[in-house]
Amino acid sequence: MKRKKMAHSSFENSMNGISEDLDLLHIEVDTDLTENRSDRDDSVCSKNVLRKQRHWEKQLAAKKSKRKEEKQRRKLNRVQSEADGDAPRFTKRVLKAITKERLAEAQSTGRRLCVDLSMTDCMSDKEISRLSGQLRRLYGSNKKASQPFHLFLTNLREDSRLYRECVRMNDGFLNYSMDITEESCLDLFPPETIVYLTPDAEQALQCVDPDKVYVLGGLVDESIQKKLSLGRASELSVLTARLPIDEYMIKKNNSKNFHSKILAINQVFDILLTFCDTGSWTEAFRLWFPLGKGYTVDPDITKSQS
Ligand SMILES: C[S@@+](CC[C@H](N)C(=O)[O-])C[C@H]1O[C@@H](n2cnc3c(N)ncnc32)[C@H](O)[C@@H]1O
Repeated sequence: MKRKKMAHSSFENSMNGISEDLDLLHIEVDTDLTENRSDRDDSVCSKNVLRKQRHWEKQLAAKKSKRKEEKQRRKLNRVQSEADGDAPRFTKRVLKAITKERLAEAQSTGRRLCVDLSMTDCMSDKEISRLSGQLRRLYGSNKKASQPFHLFLTNLREDSRLYRECVRMNDGFLNYSMDITEESCLDLFPPETIVYLTPDAEQALQCVDPDKVYVLGGLVDESIQKKLSLGRASELSVLTARLPIDEYMIKKNNSKNFHSKILAINQVFDILLTFCDTGSWTEAFRLWFPLGKGYTVDPDITKSQS
């Protein structure tokens, strides 16, 4: 028993010693492990960051070289099509710059055209909205033209329904390359230079004279108000002219027996632009006279011209 107790106590002693040793050992081992783990974590983490960075750099380089290839391919295509005799193709940015320059030049040397907006008070909201759309199209055609006009929107007040509608509906309206003014065409130009275009004029327009100022009546014919622009022209005491439709076109049979020579302002403007480009009314009418108006270019005139 005694021996057993002794043995027990010596066992206890030695166990205590071991446990102390283990404690000591344990602490040291644990510290080492923690340090090692955090070292490893750090290196794993920086390896991940490095890997991601390398991946990102590779992607960036790939994108860069793809862009370069794409640019070279476009350049080659351009050179090729120019060599094939096609007109030179420009990038969007270059085209935009060319248009801007052309419009700026037109504002100092181009043929002049006013849209007289003094008659909008008698128009409905629907007509105002259609007129703002026609002004947008007219401006769009001028932007595309090889010889744009110097455009004026006259008698346009900032507090008018039309002005508000144009700002609301026509993107970039306030930056259009045109003169927008509350003044009338007579405040801007000598009366003898003005030709008011109206479908009811007696005289047909023969050419577009660079020394004259042409005026379109800013009207939309929903509820047709006859001879309004002729009346306005006589109020201003200026010359008038109509498009030479009778001279170059003939009536076309149609089921409704409908024939009209009254066009929207943007349609008249497209005809004028093409006439200025080609010198041919036949060509201008063939391209732009609306099919639904019941007229067609006189084939005899086309024959006599060819
Ligand atoms: C829809 S029209 C207006 C028609 C309106 N009933 C009027 O009193 O003249 C709008 C404008 O386009 C121009 N226009 C339309 N057709 C024309 C034509 N055949 N000849 C000359 N100008 C025309 C005129 O300047 C006219 O004021």
